[in-house]
Amino acid sequence: MQLELTEQILKYVDENGKVDTLDLVPVFGVDHQKIVGALKSIEANGELLKTEQVLHKNWGLSDEGKEVLAKGSHEAVVFNAVPSEGIAQSDLMKVSPNAKVGFSKAMAQGWISVDKSIGKPVVKRKVESITDTVQEHLQQVDAGQASALNDTARADYRKRKLLQEIVVKSFIISKGAEFATSLQKLEADLTTDMLASGLWNTLKFKPYNLDALGTVPDAGYLHPLLKVRTEFRNIFLEMGFAEMPTNNFVESSFWNFDALFQPQQHPARDAHDTFFLTTPSKSHKFPENYLNRVKEVHSNGGYGSQGYKYDWKLEEAQKNLLRTHTTAVSARMLYKLANQEGGFVPVKYFSIDRVFRNETLDATHLAEFHQVEGVVADRNLTLGDLIGVIAEFFKKLGITQIEFKPAYNPYTEPSMEIFCFHPGLKKWIEVGNSGMFRKEMLRPMGLPDDVNVIAWGLSLERPTMIKYGINNIRDLIGPKIDLRIIQSNPICRLEKS
Ligand code: PHE
Repeated sequence: MQLELTEQILKYVDENGKVDTLDLVPVFGVDHQKIVGALKSIEANGELLKTEQVLHKNWGLSDEGKEVLAKGSHEAVVFNAVPSEGIAQSDLMKVSPNAKVGFSKAMAQGWISVDKSIGKPVVKRKVESITDTVQEHLQQVDAGQASALNDTARADYRKRKLLQEIVVKSFIISKGAEFATSLQKLEADLTTDMLASGLWNTLKFKPYNLDALGTVPDAGYLHPLLKVRTEFRNIFLEMGFAEMPTNNFVESSFWNFDALFQPQQHPARDAHDTFFLTTPSKSHKFPENYLNRVKEVHSNGGYGSQGYKYDWKLEEAQKNLLRTHTTAVSARMLYKLANQEGGFVPVKYFSIDRVFRNETLDATHLAEFHQVEGVVADRNLTLGDLIGVIAEFFKKLGITQIEFKPAYNPYTEPSMEIFCFHPGLKKWIEVGNSGMFRKEMLRPMGLPDDVNVIAWGLSLERPTMIKYGINNIRDLIGPKIDLRIIQSNPICRLEKS
């Protein structure tokens, strides 16, 4: 279509010479916009046409003018509402929103009169019938014959806001230096062949359209969780923490539970809370001496502890599972630290990765989530150090109001839940869990007596949902999410202090 129109225009100019694009509207029977569009395509091909912009001032109907065109002038509406026996003036004022203007105009025209002799003013007709000149004039304007009205009438209607001046841009076109009756196809790509053959010199190239919107790159998008993870990772790195290797979703019960002094009867180890593997169902390689010390501390205690006093079973520790927390990784790393060549050195570790729990799914729980975990091991660390490190960590996230509440974990003593004040939600919300690892966990690993380890963990989902205003976790992750939230979510900047 477009191509046809461009050629129609060229042909017309070839046969008739100079023309105003507005005059082409009736010739081709298309919108002026379309003609201007075709003209732009022709211009992109070079100087086929000479164009000169002209402005046409014209008169058009305002919205109110269009209403008058349809229903009659305000004064005619008022006149028509007056019955032969007359009507109370107050009732007449209710016939239309413009009744007041209509009333005074109809009075001025001498169409109606007001009889005040009988108390309430009554409006009566003064003439039998009227001619609605205003409406007739607007009909003329609508038909494109505004020039038929005299200047006073036009000025009056303009004052009454029935008419408005509109400016139409058009182009006077005539043959240009490179006139032709058809368009040459423009090259969009400069190829090596064109360069080699010298053809580029004779071809015409399409000009760059620097106003065009770019196409959306056909590439991957970062999930909000990954964006928030990057922010957390940067905070840890700024604080001098090193990342732990978390690339093992499958873990043995030994490292996930036993190493953490979590008794074998603990409810978290029930199949209702943990996903166990069927194949391979068991792990077989454990550091033997360490395993025996773990067995001993569970069954008989040691290091000043009474232990749990039960019959610790290897089979239970061998069971493979999907790790329920990244603290399993921390346990492996602390064991490694205790047994490395050269002995213990202070460390700061962190990890951010997936963990799995056999949960009942709801708006805030899925069977898997991401855990953010920080661990600091040094000689003579105290609870004050834990509180200080956590306060610093959350301060870097822009959270300054934090509180701690005593809690229980099998592997930490003391343990504390971390709460922070959410200014948006205007309440204290739980953001994490923390504690000092128990000697029953650390001493069997071989860590020196004076080494204490402080640690804390939180989920990545919760701050992400708050940051991106997502209320249901199923809108953030999983098969039911709207992919558009991945494609269009903003970059993440935590308001770090
Ligand atoms: N592992 C704990 C959890 O899953 C988090 C935690 C980590 C608590 C380290 C204390 C110390 O909730």
